[in-house]
Amino acid sequence: MVSVGHDILQVRIKHGDILKRVKAVAAQITKDFRGERVHLIGVLKGACFFLADLAREINLECSIDFIAVASYGKTKESSGQVRMLKDLDQNIAGLNVILVEDILDTGLTANYLLRIMKQRRPKTLKMAALLDKPSRRLKPVKGDYIGFTIPNEFVVGYGLDYAERYRNLKDVCILEVPSR
Ligand code: IMP
Ligand code: MG
Repeated sequence: MVSVGHDILQVRIKHGDILKRVKAVAAQITKDFRGERVHLIGVLKGACFFLADLAREINLECSIDFIAVASYGKTKESSGQVRMLKDLDQNIAGLNVILVEDILDTGLTANYLLRIMKQRRPKTLKMAALLDKPSRRLKPVKGDYIGFTIPNEFVVGYGLDYAERYRNLKDVCILEVPSR
C-alpha cells in the first residue's frame, strides 16, 4: 500500500507480471501474423507504455502510429462521448492494423475507433488492450489480444491516469480517492 498525497494506491498487477504477459501477447501476435507486417496504432496517451513494450517483443516487420481521442477528463466517469483530438499520420489501407488500447471499459472508445478504422479499408483489423473490464461494457467490443481481465476497479499506472497523474507508475495500482 502506497500513499501519494491524499490518494491511496494498492498494487494490483506488478511490473514484472505485466512484462511477462506482454511477452506472451506479443508471441501470439507474432504467431498469428507470421511472415507479414503489422501496423500498431496506439491510442494516446494511455497506451503508449503498453505499445512500446509490446512492439519490442513482436518479432515481425512492424510500424507504429498514434491516434488521440478525448477521454475522461478530470473525473473517473466517461462522458459517453468520444471526440478525435489527433488523427493518424499514415494511410492504413491494406495494412494489418492492431489498435492498441490501455483498457477496454465501457467499450465506447474502442467501438468508435474500430468503426472509423474499418472505413479506411485495412487488410485486417484487431484490437489489443492491456486491461479489460468486461463488467462495465455499454457497447459490445471484443478484444483480440488482452493482457489481463480485471473487475470493476479504477486503476492507474503503466500508462493509465487519474486526472493525468500516475501514468509513470511501473505497476498497475488500484486508486482509492478518499473523497469518492
Ligand atoms: P471506454 O470508452 O469507457 O471503454 O474507456 C476507455 C478509456 O477510459 C481508456 O482508454 C482510459 O483512458 C479510460 N479508463 C477506463 N477505465 C479506466 C481506469 O480504470 N483507469 C484509468 N483510465 C480508465
Ligand atoms: Mg485512454
